[in-house]
Amino acid sequence: MIDVLLGLQWGDERKGKIVDYLAPQYDIVARFQGGPNAGHTLKFDGKKFVLHTIPSGVFREGIMNLVGNGVVIDPITFVKEMEQLDEAGVEYKNRILIAKKAHLILPFHRYLDAASEASKGKSKIGSTLKGIGPTYMDKTGRNGLRVGDLLEKDFTQKYNALRNKHLKLSFIYPRVEMDLQAEEEKWLACVEQLKQLTIVDCEFYLDDALKQGKKVLAEGAQGSMLDIDFGTYPFVTSSNTITAGVCTGLGVAPQKIGEVIGITKAYCTRVGSGPFPSELFDETGEFLRKEGAEFGATTGRPRRCGWVDLVQLKYTIMLNGVTQIALTKIDVLNKFETIKAANAYKIDGETTENFPFSVDKDTLEPVYEAYEGWKSDLDGITTFEALPEKAQEYVKVLEKLLGTRISMVSTGPERKKLIVC
Ligand code: GDP
Ligand code: IMO
Ligand code: MG
Repeated sequence: MIDVLLGLQWGDERKGKIVDYLAPQYDIVARFQGGPNAGHTLKFDGKKFVLHTIPSGVFREGIMNLVGNGVVIDPITFVKEMEQLDEAGVEYKNRILIAKKAHLILPFHRYLDAASEASKGKSKIGSTLKGIGPTYMDKTGRNGLRVGDLLEKDFTQKYNALRNKHLKLSFIYPRVEMDLQAEEEKWLACVEQLKQLTIVDCEFYLDDALKQGKKVLAEGAQGSMLDIDFGTYPFVTSSNTITAGVCTGLGVAPQKIGEVIGITKAYCTRVGSGPFPSELFDETGEFLRKEGAEFGATTGRPRRCGWVDLVQLKYTIMLNGVTQIALTKIDVLNKFETIKAANAYKIDGETTENFPFSVDKDTLEPVYEAYEGWKSDLDGITTFEALPEKAQEYVKVLEKLLGTRISMVSTGPERKKLIVC
């Protein structure tokens, strides 16, 4: 069976931490979409690591880490991540597998990402500028280069053909600063290192593993509200971040999916542009940003903060078929007198509990319910029963309103600060 773990909001829900915690219960951890736009933070033994493409099971001995065909890979970032592992003394060379059918991010994709954003001016997506959009465009446009192409004789020919296409395309955009030649040289050197890893037919590898009774955890990147189909389009990423993306991003059939673990913070954040109904522009939002250290793990940008939004969460629980929830960063609410949650939206005076097609800040107003805070530290608490009464009540209220079991509560960044309920 393949269990799935993914974000239910706009990303950064703490997927990295929970995958790292759960990984020992699995044989394989597999990323199924996204690329180096992701930043998954892991903290243990006083150390901090940020992973972008390599699955978050890599620090757990003996576990295989598969980068699926749905992922887009930038060899430069990938090698930097490998260096991070080398420095930490992690043995990984035989435990990282890369899908032949995963697409490659070329330096020109990064250039086009930046140029496209520059051309949009104020209406820019707020992309991480890692080349994600242009790479997925080449994939669906049937022009892309795949990891398997690196092993083919005509690789240079294919590379040059794509580069020429990019060159022509670049003329429709404003020029942006980038030493393309230097980046291309670096890229080609990194490709040689990438080729030293095991490159597999992801779909057959997983089929064999499942037939042998192995357990697989699919690790999502971004969040469901950034999904290309169901997110707040066009302010989304370019892949399917929801459970459906596991099937296409790893080559597995739907009936192989077991548990779907949805992750949500006890409040909400978003980085980049786009609608965010429960966003706070006041000192409460600022307080959440400070208490939660809400700055992007990939870009360092300050994250926008707001109250937890149950309309939005119910929508993504439905889309993903979530069977259990991990509630994270509950400790960030420790100092609050009252905690709010958006239970419905008022749109043009009408109340709705469905996430709308478009979010217009001028006509949409979240309807909040207030809950009493617990106003105490959660340090050292390891069981649900030991949580302050008001914190227990808050978790139970969310569980009831979301109609889904909350199976984990995270009370701090470190690996050990997790209550299994
Ligand atoms: P991801 O992209 O979903 O993996 O999340 P990020 O790594 O971008 O952001 C997670 C941040 O929150 C990191 O700095 C973590 O160390 C930190 N973190 C994780 N869980 C908790 C928690 O329960 N409480 C607090 N205060 N911080 C947490
Ligand atoms: P993790 O896996 C938060 C956001 C960007 C931008 C939009 C499109 O760490 O949760 P892209 O680079 O994909 O073209 O950007 O999506 N975004 C993320 N926000 N967490 C992420 O990943 C994100 N990956 C992309 O900020 O608004
Ligand atoms: Mg992140």
